[in-house]
Amino acid sequence: MALKSTNPTKTKSWQLLQHHFEAIKDIHITEYFNQNPNRANDLTLKWEDFYVDFSKHRITKETLDLLLQLANEVDLKDAISKYYNGDVINETEGRAVLHTALRAPESAKIMVDGVNVIPEIYQVKNKIKAFTNQVVNGQLKGFTGKPFTDVVNIGIGGSDLGPAMVVEALSFYKNHLKTHFVSNVDGDHVNEVIKNLNPETTLFVVVSKTFTTQETLSNANTIRQWFLKSGKQSDVAKHFVAVSTNIEKVKEFGIDESNIFPMWNWVGGRFSLWSAVGLTISLAVGYDHFDGLLSGANKMDEHFKTQAFDKNLPVITALLSVWYNNFFNAESEAVIAYSQYLNQFATYLQQGIMESNGKSVDRSGIPINYQTGTIIWGEPGTNSQHAFFQLIHQGTKLIPAEFIGFAKSLHGNKDHQDKLMSNFLAQTEALMTGKSKNDVIDEGSSKHLVPFKVFEGNKPTTTILIDKLTPESLGKLIALYEHKIFVQGVIWNIFSYDQFGVELGKQLANTILSEINDSSVVNNHDTSTSNLLKHYKNLT
Ligand code: F6P
Repeated sequence: MALKSTNPTKTKSWQLLQHHFEAIKDIHITEYFNQNPNRANDLTLKWEDFYVDFSKHRITKETLDLLLQLANEVDLKDAISKYYNGDVINETEGRAVLHTALRAPESAKIMVDGVNVIPEIYQVKNKIKAFTNQVVNGQLKGFTGKPFTDVVNIGIGGSDLGPAMVVEALSFYKNHLKTHFVSNVDGDHVNEVIKNLNPETTLFVVVSKTFTTQETLSNANTIRQWFLKSGKQSDVAKHFVAVSTNIEKVKEFGIDESNIFPMWNWVGGRFSLWSAVGLTISLAVGYDHFDGLLSGANKMDEHFKTQAFDKNLPVITALLSVWYNNFFNAESEAVIAYSQYLNQFATYLQQGIMESNGKSVDRSGIPINYQTGTIIWGEPGTNSQHAFFQLIHQGTKLIPAEFIGFAKSLHGNKDHQDKLMSNFLAQTEALMTGKSKNDVIDEGSSKHLVPFKVFEGNKPTTTILIDKLTPESLGKLIALYEHKIFVQGVIWNIFSYDQFGVELGKQLANTILSEINDSSVVNNHDTSTSNLLKHYKNLT
């Protein structure tokens, strides 16, 4: 069944939130702490190895109650059950949205078109496991009989960002295989990657759900040509495997059917790292760690599905984001992970969040007059403190931020870890408390510098403190954001699982590509584009 369609701005809670916003918008968070000594405890959720503190937000109990009422008025409960049950909630593409099924236990039963998909999922998981073990153990060999040393993931968007982010995040757990990622159609990318590789010992994983993506096919073709300078056509089967739903196209490309790892239409590209799209993850860290990632995500799935909304991490994080986006008019959100391992986390989330919720038409096809998808950005702490934090602290924009930290370091260097975590804790405190004029004067600042040194504070943050970065905790964290995206899409009454917005650019690029290769003068674009095309053709 389809998701219900409710204009959130027409709900009672939305109107009440608007009045409430006017009443509390200027109150400083520190005042709430002065009023309620239990605020930190009241607004902290502890779940498994997650300690999530929402107290440094511009909210009161009433704010939360009204946001929860909003979730109820749009019938989030009903939406969640349709999401998990495999209803066709990706209506515009006529598909279910079932990345949760990929991490469900083998005993689960999840029906798509009258068929339980769990047995097929486990068949593919077993194939991933067996293949991973053979590559990692050196049992599977390249065309000259040598074991593999390198793995290259060829894909883009969801077929690249998830695996690339997770492989880096789990570097501590990596085995001897060196992993590389080729995504951009910029030939410099593929050439930089292959220049140091030995074709005899390199395995290529071509990942494309559709197997029609220009970037991926171009890169795969270039790599195959490079490979064929050393190996024979019949050796391709030993070195190229593919992950796709489009078995025919993969075979056309020349990849052996036995080397195809299938996926399904009900897995969206940006939510696909749990499927065979995660093959490179499995190869990099071993199948057991890959499975740990999945089981962490499954724990978050259960939490999201069963926990009351007021204690539900994805629900609360999503509602807070709606609060700032739609009432404070905050346009962006920062995600700051205090872990160098999570270097690519914000980049990964950009696709998940912005491709999903960057929509301006509601579920009835009507243009909407309220804000939807937030702009997401971030870099790891402490590097980001020395880059863009100035603007968060003293700029004119309100930027809610999520701080993610891990209490135990993986390498066990206490000195570094204590310094890292002292920054993690200090920044959210500074963002909230700021520095008053009196404090600046007391510090002995010269009078004319006082206005420049005052920090208003009152900058909202969520702190997500996790015991340790493990495959399992990472799985929970990623799933938390996946469900946050879902909740926001339900509230904003949009379809979160299509991405028609990226299609127009692809179509025009194909037209322009044929015009670049055509010697006649092209004048059928706007004059700016035609001039640029002419200039490019003159130069090349
Ligand atoms: O950027 C659009 C998009 O369709 C993404 O949603 C997807 O992750 C990416 O392209 C790659 O698609 P494919 O896996 O089919 O090559």
